[in-house]
Amino acid sequence: MRRFLLLTVFMFCSVAYVNEVLAMEITRAVMLSNSCAACHGTDGRSPGAIPSINGKSTQFLVQALHDFQDGKRPATVMGRHATGYSDEEIQLIADFFSSRP
Ligand code: HEC
Repeated sequence: MRRFLLLTVFMFCSVAYVNEVLAMEITRAVMLSNSCAACHGTDGRSPGAIPSINGKSTQFLVQALHDFQDGKRPATVMGRHATGYSDEEIQLIADFFSSRP
């Protein structure tokens, strides 16, 4: 009986965990931010020369991306990359990376 109870609890926890992971994967912010990972690293933590963007303030990220779009901020690739996003998408992306440790 005790073994059955433990198994039941384990199964509920597993389902809850899988749901949490799935919920995180399907948010629009996560999907949009995935396009940045190739250069800025997982969750914006860069392993190389490209700057890390995790934990930066939302305000900084929004401003930087708009400045890249407008050509006010010097860039090799970001000028072109940033033009693909709407203001709403930039806000979602900025909120996502500012929340990453
Ligand atoms: C192809 C590689 C590449 C991709 C993809 C990319 N970046 Fe960048 N990012 C760079 C490089 C390189 C720089 C340095 C500026 C430059 O040369 O364009 C940079 C700079 C930045 C900066 C300024 C950081 C600082 O501290 O000055 C921000 C913010 C930024 N990127 C955000 C993003 C976001 C958000 C995405 C996804 C929507 C993204 N980048 C996708 C390569 C990339």
